[in-house]
Amino acid sequence: MTEKSGPSTTRRGFLKAGLAAGGAVASGGAAYAAGDPAITELQPWMQYLGDGVDARPYGYPSEFESHVKRRNVEWLTADTVSSVNFTPLHELDGIITPNGLCFERHHGGIAEIDPAQHRLMINGLVDKPLVFTMQDLMRFPRENHVYFLECAANTGMEWRGAQLNGCQFTHGMIHNVMYTGIPLKLILEEAGLKTNAKWILPEGADASGMTRSVPMEKALDDCLVAFKMNGEMLRPEQGYPLRLVVPGWEGNMWVKWLRRIEVGDKPWHHREETSKYTDLLENGDARRFTWEMDAKSVITNPSPQAPILHGKGHTVLTGVAWSGRGTIPRVDVTIDGGKNWHQARMDGPSLTKSMHRFYYEFDWDGSPLLLQSRAHDSTGYVQPTKDELRKFRGENSIYHNNGIQTWYVNEKGIAENVEVS
Ligand code: MTE
Ligand code: CO
Repeated sequence: MTEKSGPSTTRRGFLKAGLAAGGAVASGGAAYAAGDPAITELQPWMQYLGDGVDARPYGYPSEFESHVKRRNVEWLTADTVSSVNFTPLHELDGIITPNGLCFERHHGGIAEIDPAQHRLMINGLVDKPLVFTMQDLMRFPRENHVYFLECAANTGMEWRGAQLNGCQFTHGMIHNVMYTGIPLKLILEEAGLKTNAKWILPEGADASGMTRSVPMEKALDDCLVAFKMNGEMLRPEQGYPLRLVVPGWEGNMWVKWLRRIEVGDKPWHHREETSKYTDLLENGDARRFTWEMDAKSVITNPSPQAPILHGKGHTVLTGVAWSGRGTIPRVDVTIDGGKNWHQARMDGPSLTKSMHRFYYEFDWDGSPLLLQSRAHDSTGYVQPTKDELRKFRGENSIYHNNGIQTWYVNEKGIAENVEVS
């Protein structure tokens, strides 16, 4: 085979690319420094026998990771039982949120439910009202799906300008886990739907007794009655032992501690879909039923809680993107406030209504940066700027802010939340 033949040329091309990548990686490490005690000395942990296999029956992270935690914003937390904390997005990678780090939003605190005493009731416009125990539910066929849950209020504090300093606080009302659950359709079919059955009203067993009206098309499409997240039983914070999963739709509809589903012929217009979770427009009208979450993205590193500590040179930028309408085939990234856009590298599974991970590797010359990311979803929708959003929605809104986020990074690598227009 000659040097010029196809496969061999391709192979050489591949090797060159491989070398370039190798070089780039090596530039991230330091040359061997003689006398570095981290290499030459016996470390303490090399000199004792560690914990045995009986010491940690339920595992937990290294003590050196204790800063990785859900946090709340003091001025948003007048009362902790009706409040929110935030997922530390800047500490995570890939697409799955570990169970202990999923943000929590509850209106009446965490219900601690004994699953043996828990029931799911189906009533209203059905042929036979039914009550299921957890054991009954375990006999239905189940499915596994990875979905994001985003609170409609995520990024809500940023409508009128840059406010909270960190993607944990600006974008951390989201988590992405694998649910194991029963298609809601199967449970509704078991009870038998009357011909005028057009809506469902899921109800929580917590003190807030949360309810939301969900149209029947969605209930029969992809909703799940879930009992597991990331393989284990739901955490109490996330609705143990049952929660409704409403893929791609605002988090408020994902009723936790699910105890009852009423079937009706029209929406109920309860508190959570009238005085709350509606979007007040400039002319005084409020948008009703904004269920689907629009495509959105955020750069998680660098970001205010995750400055660039290594100085100039090879830098890894990463972030997450998601859409309530499908997948994210593409994310664009700019490091100069939108003068030049670059297509980011998508990595990891691309699943519908799930978080996606993107990376953009670049050589930082040490000058200030304006970082932004822009998601494109599988319907062709492109994430708008905050100004574009405000043009249509005015400035009264809290919910459904999917505008492009900007981080300013100074020469020292310190990042802060800003807006460019
Ligand atoms: N379900 C019940 N029963 N009680 C609640 O307070 N909060 C809702 C929804 N389901 C809530 C609920 C809101 S506003 C959101 S954003 C999500 O649950 C939050 O889910 P999480 O706590 O798993 O993040
Ligand atoms: Co919410």
